[in-house]
Amino acid sequence: MGLKNNSTITIDDLSNWEMEAIFSLADEMASDTRAYSDLCKGLVMASLFYEPSTRTRLSFETAMHRLGGSVVTAADVSSSSISKGESLADTARVVGSYVDIIVIRHPWEGAARAMTNYTGVPVINAGDGSHEHPTQTLCDLYTLRKEKGRIEELTVALCGDLKSGRTVHSLTYALARFGANIVFIPSKGYELPVNVREKIRREYTGSLLEADQVDIKPRNSDEFGALDAIYQTPAEPHQLALLTDVKPEIRPGSYDVLYATRLQRERYTDNDEAKGGFVKVDRGLLKRPEFKQALVMHPLPRLDEIAYDLDEDPRSMYFKQAAYGVPVRMALLALLLGTVQRTITEGPNPFARPVGYPKYKSVQGVRCGNDSCVSNQETAYIVPEFWVVSEKPAVLRCVYCEEETRPQSAGSSRTRIFHKAGLFSSRRLKDSNLIYFESHQQAQEKGFRPDYRVKS
Ligand code: NCD
Repeated sequence: MGLKNNSTITIDDLSNWEMEAIFSLADEMASDTRAYSDLCKGLVMASLFYEPSTRTRLSFETAMHRLGGSVVTAADVSSSSISKGESLADTARVVGSYVDIIVIRHPWEGAARAMTNYTGVPVINAGDGSHEHPTQTLCDLYTLRKEKGRIEELTVALCGDLKSGRTVHSLTYALARFGANIVFIPSKGYELPVNVREKIRREYTGSLLEADQVDIKPRNSDEFGALDAIYQTPAEPHQLALLTDVKPEIRPGSYDVLYATRLQRERYTDNDEAKGGFVKVDRGLLKRPEFKQALVMHPLPRLDEIAYDLDEDPRSMYFKQAAYGVPVRMALLALLLGTVQRTITEGPNPFARPVGYPKYKSVQGVRCGNDSCVSNQETAYIVPEFWVVSEKPAVLRCVYCEEETRPQSAGSSRTRIFHKAGLFSSRRLKDSNLIYFESHQQAQEKGFRPDYRVKS
């Protein structure tokens, strides 16, 4: 297997082995950057940035230039036809006919996924709303691998805005998949969203324990947030299992990484500041026994989360993370464009469950519940589409933004009768006839009649 012509929309699009191939190529490229200056000669990358960016856009563009390729950019939405109301589908078709690869950042969740339906060239998601940012995760993992030599069994604290911070969503899945332990310490009111928690529970072999199940809190937690949950990898020996015996403080040296994020102000309408304290990493915090060994990471830009006097501290990794963006993105571009071929042999992964959910798609009935999902923004042509992650109870995951919806009813387009979703009668409906509805009321409004169980 290779990576040629694949798109990278979520971190799930890359297996552990594919990521390892990217990292080893990035190592080679970092050791002699100029040796690759003809690798992508004659190829063109479009960078479409419909949200502000410094590192991601400039490192992608630098990477393509360093590979000898060319770059066309639409970094200012007001100067592109998007501002005239052009659809993402049309932009994808047109830009895809000019270039060999598209890198897109967009405020709507699922925008990059939607683009892949309308262009034949690979698309890379450089951040879609609050959803994911897989290439930042590649830089984060690459940093960990370089600095710690491994990812398995590390204990990583994720702090700050875990609700809308897309980098931490991609990173969470990747850390779980590589067998790391994760401690979630959000600022109050900015906890990890339900759909991320649900996905962790469904797809990884470790356990997600809520704060009340572990009964440990970092000391003086009010300063930057309280422990909200722990993801405990099944790897042995169990570091965190040991920790849970140590109350109320976490054992010295327990964190390998402290990953801070900023409040994603642009995602909130009420402009509210953190409802509790917001993470502030400074010398004082790093003196605490539990953080003494921790690498300090941040996807940047930082606001006040990390004191400037830590910049020279050998544990501070954030500028390295940013610098690694160039070799990592060079490697990804070369592999997706097929200018470097690597044979990638996959194996079983003890940290992830195999998933193969059926898909469900219908113009009628249930829609994704997330207003900023691309499927609710580009309604003229995107048909709602879901993974059926569970039939009983019925749980649908939007293929674009991955938010989960629990439809109340399921009807048949042939009989025009609807049932309680998840009951045996609804599970027997033929896929081609099946229509899920948000509620019984929605089914009735569409002219469907309830079966006797709904009536009773
Ligand atoms: C992040 C992003 O855009 O999501 N930045 C980045 O790409 N390095 C994090 C952030 O903006 O807070």
